[in-house]
Amino acid sequence: MERLQKFLARCGVASRRKAEELIVNGLVTVNGEVVRELGVKVTPGEDRVTVAGRVVRLETEPIYLMMNKPQGYITGNRDPQGRKTVLALLPEGFPRVYPVGRLDYNTTGLLLLTNDGELAYALTHPKFQIKKVYQALVRGIPDQTALFRLRTGVVLADGPTLPAEVAIIKVEAGNAILSIGLREGRKRQVRRMCAAVGHRVLTLERVAMGPLRLGDLKVGHYRRLTAAELKAVKDIVAQARQAVEGGKGQGNAAGKKRRLLGAGSDQSPDPAGLSGRWD
Ligand code: URA
Repeated sequence: MERLQKFLARCGVASRRKAEELIVNGLVTVNGEVVRELGVKVTPGEDRVTVAGRVVRLETEPIYLMMNKPQGYITGNRDPQGRKTVLALLPEGFPRVYPVGRLDYNTTGLLLLTNDGELAYALTHPKFQIKKVYQALVRGIPDQTALFRLRTGVVLADGPTLPAEVAIIKVEAGNAILSIGLREGRKRQVRRMCAAVGHRVLTLERVAMGPLRLGDLKVGHYRRLTAAELKAVKDIVAQARQAVEGGKGQGNAAGKKRRLLGAGSDQSPDPAGLSGRWD
């Protein structure tokens, strides 16, 4: 059983506060009866709830969105400092989805949002080594020594980095745009790697994650993954799982819990928070 307003919020009808207004205004029925009190509890899947005459159900279908994250947004669910979160870019009432991994406040680019905790876990856990590609505009032009260090491993405060794929793709006004492909995702990793070899990152954009490409998706916009993209992501995750786990762990309890976080579950619905990883 859970409070009606919480259920409505979880179904993506509205924020919890707005859901309370809907209830008080007599727009919500439970099993055919209008409910105006806020204390009423419902059992998801058993009680029939309508809002303005339309039946409300928990979203059980997995959702996969690609967003081009703008600067000036955090990728967490909420921020103690009150900064905007990427979730504010989705329409009000959109079913709950969560960012897969994190991008810094000032990083732009490809961000996957989903309610599929299992996929989010596989895409962000370092043991699966899913490649993420960034384009970094750095101050100055890295020489061969700097490029070699970036490629072979830079020693950071939290240990040496894994080998990375690094290339200069453009030089303009004495600065360079680097393509950097990483198979790990530590906090501010690209910025720290570049700083360690003497080149401050001026702008940073993620352009690819596994088989996904940002393409010409406009900054601040989002779209659903195509069927082909989703298949490609699932294939690569299955391959990575097979390589790492040899098939073990499939269907275990933890895996099941992670599978659809936020849909019909009261536990922490935050894949990004679960992994706590920066990608
Ligand atoms: N590396 C960074 O430094 N920042 C990001 O946002 C992502 C990767």
